[in-house]
Amino acid sequence: MPKPPIKIIPRPEETKVSLFTYSVTHNAVHSTELDSKNLLNAIWCGDCRDVLRDYYPDNYFDLIVTSPPYAEARKRVYGGIPADRFAAWLLDRTAEFLRVLKPSGTFILNIKEKVINGERHTYVLDLIKGMRSQGWLWTEEFIWHKKNCYPGKWPNRFRDAWERLLQFNKSSHFKMRQEAVMVPMGDWAETRLRKLSQTDKRRDESRAGSGFGKNISNWLGREMVYPTNVLYGATECSNRNHSAVFPYWLPEWFIRLFTDPGDIVLDPFLGSGTTALAARDLGRWYVGIDTNEKYCEAARDSLVQTIRKRINGKTKLKRGPEVHKQQHLELPFEEIKKSAGT
Ligand SMILES: C[S@@+](CC[C@H](N)C(=O)[O-])C[C@H]1O[C@@H](n2cnc3c(N)ncnc32)[C@H](O)[C@@H]1O
Repeated sequence: MPKPPIKIIPRPEETKVSLFTYSVTHNAVHSTELDSKNLLNAIWCGDCRDVLRDYYPDNYFDLIVTSPPYAEARKRVYGGIPADRFAAWLLDRTAEFLRVLKPSGTFILNIKEKVINGERHTYVLDLIKGMRSQGWLWTEEFIWHKKNCYPGKWPNRFRDAWERLLQFNKSSHFKMRQEAVMVPMGDWAETRLRKLSQTDKRRDESRAGSGFGKNISNWLGREMVYPTNVLYGATECSNRNHSAVFPYWLPEWFIRLFTDPGDIVLDPFLGSGTTALAARDLGRWYVGIDTNEKYCEAARDSLVQTIRKRINGKTKLKRGPEVHKQQHLELPFEEIKKSAGT
């Protein structure tokens, strides 16, 4: 069957809207040069493999954040890929992602293996192995712990409350702005640090002989600390014309962590356009691709509307989800338990 032609969806009305209203440090001259081929702040309707292969040069993007169509899922909505073919299908596209990602760039893939015939399918594991053979480094895995996971009861398993956010890189020297995602210490510090024991004031080596240790007094005077690799956050409840949207905080968090203003963010399975909006809000360039024309148009329309509202002061930039505060609050309890030897 002949492939449908790739269509570029006309941009949001960039001319009527100052391009970097929310960017603080963007270098406009550089941006104009970069944008000369019309490749930036674009939403494409087509297969991401074809769009990237035909239009985008090597080493172009700073960050790719995405969630692919799930295997065997939602077939009627946007054509699921059979689980047994899923890894090969996605590998065909990750090869292209590898080519267009900068050596300093990062690829974040939100995915979870489905239960098929009573067991978890191995397509995510197959995919990871396949991507390593393509040359990717499987650098890290973040867990998204869903605060509002789907209710229900099953005879042989519990509610599924987490998803994977796999991190891949081309090199171990990738850009990472850890300070950009620091979280407030929280109230625990006041009570915990008011009375420090002698053990707290020196480095306390792990009793398990792991070579790790801690010094609780190092927390004194700190207002912000680094988060963990577990992200606690709600799923998106409003469907925004799409059945599987990212919560806004999710791409936003990774964009802050792995890019600087003026960098280029790609979502090759754009859906409702959440990643593009978050990139735009943070003063990064976005490129979004989706095979479904209706989703592309809806993403473009929602971008235009939200940008307009932001400019008219009708919606505020969403920032620093309470999620991350909560995430941090769990850290000290662990510390406290360990220091008490429990
Ligand atoms: C899980 S959804 C992404 C949702 C998105 N994260 C959001 O916030 O709305 C996956 C999307 O991939 C699109 N898709 C499926 N195959 C594709 C392909 N080969 N290239 C680009 N997009 C594709 C589907 O139409 C669907 O909108």
